[in-house]
Amino acid sequence: MSGCTVNPAEHQPKDLTLAVVVERMAKYQPRVEELWRRYPVKRAALLQVLWMAQEEFGWVPREAIKWAADTCVVSHAHAFGVTEFYTMYRQVPAGKHLIQVCQTMCCYIQGSENLIEHLEKSLGVHSGQTTKDGLFTLVRVECLALCGTGPGVMIDDQAIGPKPHALGEGQLAEEHLSVPDFHPNAALLDSWIKFLRDEHAKKPTTTGSNGWALPTTPNATGRLVLNTKGHPGAFGAAAKPLPVGYYPPAPALKLAANVAGDKVALTWINDSGSTKIIVERSDDNGSTWRELATPTPKDQKAGDTLAVGASAQYRVIAHEKDRIARPSVVVSATGQPPAPVAPTAAKVSP
Ligand code: FES
Repeated sequence: MSGCTVNPAEHQPKDLTLAVVVERMAKYQPRVEELWRRYPVKRAALLQVLWMAQEEFGWVPREAIKWAADTCVVSHAHAFGVTEFYTMYRQVPAGKHLIQVCQTMCCYIQGSENLIEHLEKSLGVHSGQTTKDGLFTLVRVECLALCGTGPGVMIDDQAIGPKPHALGEGQLAEEHLSVPDFHPNAALLDSWIKFLRDEHAKKPTTTGSNGWALPTTPNATGRLVLNTKGHPGAFGAAAKPLPVGYYPPAPALKLAANVAGDKVALTWINDSGSTKIIVERSDDNGSTWRELATPTPKDQKAGDTLAVGASAQYRVIAHEKDRIARPSVVVSATGQPPAPVAPTAAKVSP
């Protein structure tokens, strides 16, 4: 954890042995195998495997780093190095809410040090530490990609900025929902902290997978966050809540359309674990789609016919049992006039 003032070695539970980690992580094996299928080498899945450990424990214990290293066939030292490098991996048990403040130059200039000092005073901890009640961990991090509205601050998955998402029951005071100068300030952060403390003081109604009793709504993966969908590319990001443990199958890749006259030949690559393939066609530039063909996963090709000058778009959607992958890239094709027939040589009479 960047800016951490605690030594992770002093915070490893003695009873959390590698054997215990292996037992607890056994349920993640299908997801690990799914990842392996996506990459040419197992080590490529290391970041996501470490992320699974954090999902399970709420942080990444040393023994879990060893498990991840063994799983991805890299040395323990390599996995330790990766965990050290990325500030999103927590190497010590964290509080129920993680407050991250960007200390990179752009935010430093915008006053991040003042905010950190304010939070350290109001929470009674130094950066890298957790409050005595176990509710908040304060950390310094590098760029959160909130530079434009800096100093960048995140509480759990919520970027604290000019327009906080609606919070549902127990909302922040209305006057704090808009920050006059567009940047997080001490008053706004105090409101968040008070809001979260109040929520925890209420009788908890929901318990997260890591045992936390959290007050707000489930995110796309069914886990509990502060009413945000997180990064759109994040695991499980989707328009509707998905069950805990859901992971999407591999999408069809390298879709290509080759046109010869009025014939369109579509080719792609799909995962060997795909159980169903649907090829879709759009005649209005991707606004609406209709099913064109359902070739078997082994085929990895389909055909279509287009009148001369007519255009269409195509995409392929892979399924793995009841799980649906995100659609492939969209390719366009336009019907061509038939290739001119080469004149046959006139017969010469002897
Ligand atoms: S530099 Fe602070 S969020 Fe980018």
